[in-house]
Amino acid sequence: MADALVCNTILKSKALQQYIYDVSTKGREHKQLKEIREATCKKYDWEAMMGVPPDEGLFLSILLKLMNAKKTLEIGVFTGYSLLTTALALPHDGKITAVDPSREAYEVGLPFIREAGVDHKIDFIESEALPVLDELLKNGEQFDFVFVDADKPNYKNYHEKLVKLVKLGGAIAYDNTLWLGAVVDKEEDIKARSHITNMEGFLGCRRAMIDLNISLASDPRIEISQISIGDGVTLCRRIV
Ligand SMILES: C[S@@+](CC[C@H](N)C(=O)[O-])C[C@H]1O[C@@H](n2cnc3c(N)ncnc32)[C@H](O)[C@@H]1O
Repeated sequence: MADALVCNTILKSKALQQYIYDVSTKGREHKQLKEIREATCKKYDWEAMMGVPPDEGLFLSILLKLMNAKKTLEIGVFTGYSLLTTALALPHDGKITAVDPSREAYEVGLPFIREAGVDHKIDFIESEALPVLDELLKNGEQFDFVFVDADKPNYKNYHEKLVKLVKLGGAIAYDNTLWLGAVVDKEEDIKARSHITNMEGFLGCRRAMIDLNISLASDPRIEISQISIGDGVTLCRRIV
């Protein structure tokens, strides 16, 4: 069983992560979000850290409310921490299309989503994201906001479709763009870290994040902000 505050973070110490949680996050985390986090830690080991951290959840919630977002898309649901965060932030008639090939993980969080009374806003699609994005494009769908927290090597492929699926002035948020800070580390130094169990996968995702960050920075269709929260979030706003 994982520690309930095991999260992906680029903060320099566990103490700092705990400080942010204790001082500014704990009292404001929705009851069912906390329950999803705890149920995830009971069921999974290191994978539990895939859920977005509570402070990042609060940031996403404020952003969605400031934007008056009503229709959103989420790629990569896992047990539903970011999904429930979004569902709570949208108005009663808001709609979220949520895509993930694993229904099993989604069902870990679903009882809490139901208990929070927001499951009617969610259309969960059990699938790889790319064919779903093609279908959404074919149907002329447009979204206010997209949250991407899935298979990192596909982020660049998602981006080409998402810049068309997000409405003008709408936003796309890419999670994990600083990849635990490893985007600036030397590959040979990373290879010496014995605690990384799937080194090939880790390095592949790092390379994908480095490539994505470079291409987002020079993409004239969007403005961007690299946010140092959680594991790094790049917020993109469509401008053309
Ligand atoms: C980091 S987790 C998502 C965490 C989630 N946002 C949360 O807050 O709990 C990544 C998820 O991406 C999903 N995933 C992997 N490949 C995918 C693909 N091709 N399309 C959509 N989702 C995918 C995995 O099944 C996993 O549930």
